Amino acid sequence: SWTPDTMVSETITAIQEQVGDRRVLCALSGGVDSAVAAALVQRAIGSQLTCVFVDHGLLRAGEAEQVKEDFVRATGVDLVVADERERFLGALAGVTDPEQKRKIIGREFIRTFEEVARQLESDRGIDFLVQGTLYPDVVESGGGDGASNIKSHHNVGGLPDDLQFTLIEPLRAMFKDEVRQVGAQLGLPEEMVHRHPFPGPGLGIRIVGEVTEERLEILRRADLIAREELRAAHLEREIWQFPVVLLADVRSVGVQGDGRTYGYPIVLRPVTSEDAMTADWARLPYEVLEKMSTRITNECEGINRVVVDITSKPPGTIEWE
Ligand code: XMP
Repeated sequence: SWTPDTMVSETITAIQEQVGDRRVLCALSGGVDSAVAAALVQRAIGSQLTCVFVDHGLLRAGEAEQVKEDFVRATGVDLVVADERERFLGALAGVTDPEQKRKIIGREFIRTFEEVARQLESDRGIDFLVQGTLYPDVVESGGGDGASNIKSHHNVGGLPDDLQFTLIEPLRAMFKDEVRQVGAQLGLPEEMVHRHPFPGPGLGIRIVGEVTEERLEILRRADLIAREELRAAHLEREIWQFPVVLLADVRSVGVQGDGRTYGYPIVLRPVTSEDAMTADWARLPYEVLEKMSTRITNECEGINRVVVDITSKPPGTIEWE
């Protein structure tokens, strides 16, 4: 029967046989799947693996550090960090259309990854690319493209023809909860192992309106407060995902201290779901919502209103863009 123990040792043996003494590349996103996949490959072949982390500046508070520091400490992996925050902000300047944002972020991501991969390839030769494909993805891609036309999803993988690597997919037989167990078994940081799903385009699609550093800063703070309060209430595992969204092109009048304010709203979007294809809005306790609201309006400059999204999917999607 399935145990993380046997899964780890069998997968490691399989990777060692597949790779031999050749070299492997893996892109880390900060998510569970790529982290566990990379950690498994690292266990199997050590320094023959190089990981690449493209810091696009659109992750949540603490997440880039989790990859650059905690993950590296836990695994000893060889990591190349591409700090491309300015590149992404520059490419997103003036852009408000959700699909255009998604395309720009996806494009810049692939370009950056490609540049790094090309450099590594010419330095030392690379034969394999690790992908964090799970069993449900394998099944799903056999049967049509599902809902993928509603939003253009961004994932690593579409590399140009002259960079051809053989894929290693160490999670191909696993479900998400098994991936988490394997991650824990490998000693990955707890926060990484139990992270909620997070979209590739990151906070870029959680700011309705133009993405700027100032707005990202506000959203990161609000998002961190929501995460802290959810955790304090021990509700993290009850919830599938909890987007926090900044409506940067809406302003409303408020009052604080003895003055009028004219600020932006933050939307809380906690949902329950089995597979993200459908979702229901999560009935969070009022006390928890109250705490989040009070803290967000007190601690986030420019935010004077907090609203809760009570739309299921369909008709709403989980993300706002
Ligand atoms: P929606 O908003 O379509 O999201 O209900 C369904 C699930 O997909 C996630 N999502 C993405 N994940 N790249 C990803 O890897 C993307 O571009 C992307 N867009 C949405 C979303 O967070 C939810 O879990």
